[in-house]
Amino acid sequence: LAPPLLDAQGRCMTYLRLSITDRCNFRCTYCSPASWGGKKDLLDAAEFERIVSVFARMGIRRVRLTGGEPLIRPDIQEIARRLAAVPGIQHLAITTNASRLESLAAPLREAGVTQLNLSLDTLSPETFRRISKQGDFDALLRGIDAAAAAGFQSLKLNVVVMRGINDGEVPALVDFAHARGITPRFIELMPFGQGTPVPTAELLERLASSGRQLTEEPPEDAASPTSGPARYWRTAGGRVGFISPLTQNFCGGCNRVRVASNGDLRSCLGGRAQAPLHQLIRGGATDAELAMAVRRALGDKPEGHRFTEAGNGATLLPMMGIGG
Ligand code: GTP
Ligand code: 5AD
Ligand code: SF4
Repeated sequence: LAPPLLDAQGRCMTYLRLSITDRCNFRCTYCSPASWGGKKDLLDAAEFERIVSVFARMGIRRVRLTGGEPLIRPDIQEIARRLAAVPGIQHLAITTNASRLESLAAPLREAGVTQLNLSLDTLSPETFRRISKQGDFDALLRGIDAAAAAGFQSLKLNVVVMRGINDGEVPALVDFAHARGITPRFIELMPFGQGTPVPTAELLERLASSGRQLTEEPPEDAASPTSGPARYWRTAGGRVGFISPLTQNFCGGCNRVRVASNGDLRSCLGGRAQAPLHQLIRGGATDAELAMAVRRALGDKPEGHRFTEAGNGATLLPMMGIGG
């Protein structure tokens, strides 16, 4: 077996985030610049399978499909089926806006998808319309219910918190998620679009002052493929997660590597594009050459992002193209 995929800091990569499209049917203000048109030249199911096989031989055990919105790809079921069957891959997860899940939740579970993270920032149709000019709010609510009924190993609800927009809805969103057996997670807005972030400490205080007892859980072992940036608290109704890139840096425990929708490897969300994997494949690269390009890029993985409230250090692709 190939040696594990270590970066320059000795962190071990076990988790791959694969952006399979840079298009989205919602276009939320914090993620997608108005000018972004989307690129045509995406990878196909066989190319994703090849890339994931190369990564799996280097120790990647968990794959998450992201976008844009991954479920707008017509071949999403084929992609899921092929990737779930790659030897070594133990978890296949998707992050989605839930709008297509009414019809896709059960087939994706069947195809081998184990975990879903669903995005929902508000329970108010008016606020939803401010965040997403073109999304279908009713379809996404039906999609969340379909996901809750489909028997996934884990379901999480991602809420990007923006001051003055949805920060008053945190307790209601906790109750909404817990009522459906879903773990809510509140995310500090990263500087890729519009809006003002709210620090996690402030949200924890607000939940405590609404009468909830919160007990922090110890972090998962960073080498585990299921570990991630979220920290979790226990409450009477279930767990509540917080992802705090601006106020509680988690980069020391990073286990992840990304392939953006254009096929470029990015060893960090806050870094530059590195190995052009899609170009290498089209140029006839062997698996060994692809693996070498990946290892070289990981040797340059930054210690972490440099996001501040003001800027993202010019990652040059919008969130939509990198997949978060
Ligand atoms: P789990 O593995 O289920 O915990 O999911 P996840 O949090 O890794 O992924 P998800 O796609 O649900 O992303 C939730 C939020 O975390 C989004 O805002 C992502 O942009 C952010 N996120 C995920 N991974 C990273 C990371 O490595 N660095 C930073 N800065 N943010 C990340
Ligand atoms: N800051 C934080 N999270 C973001 N997401 C999209 N844009 C941002 C941002 N600027 C989240 C989405 C989705 C996940 C993939 O990334 O809400 O849940
Ligand atoms: Fe890892 Fe970079 Fe994300 Fe930090 S910002 S957790 S180093 S990918």
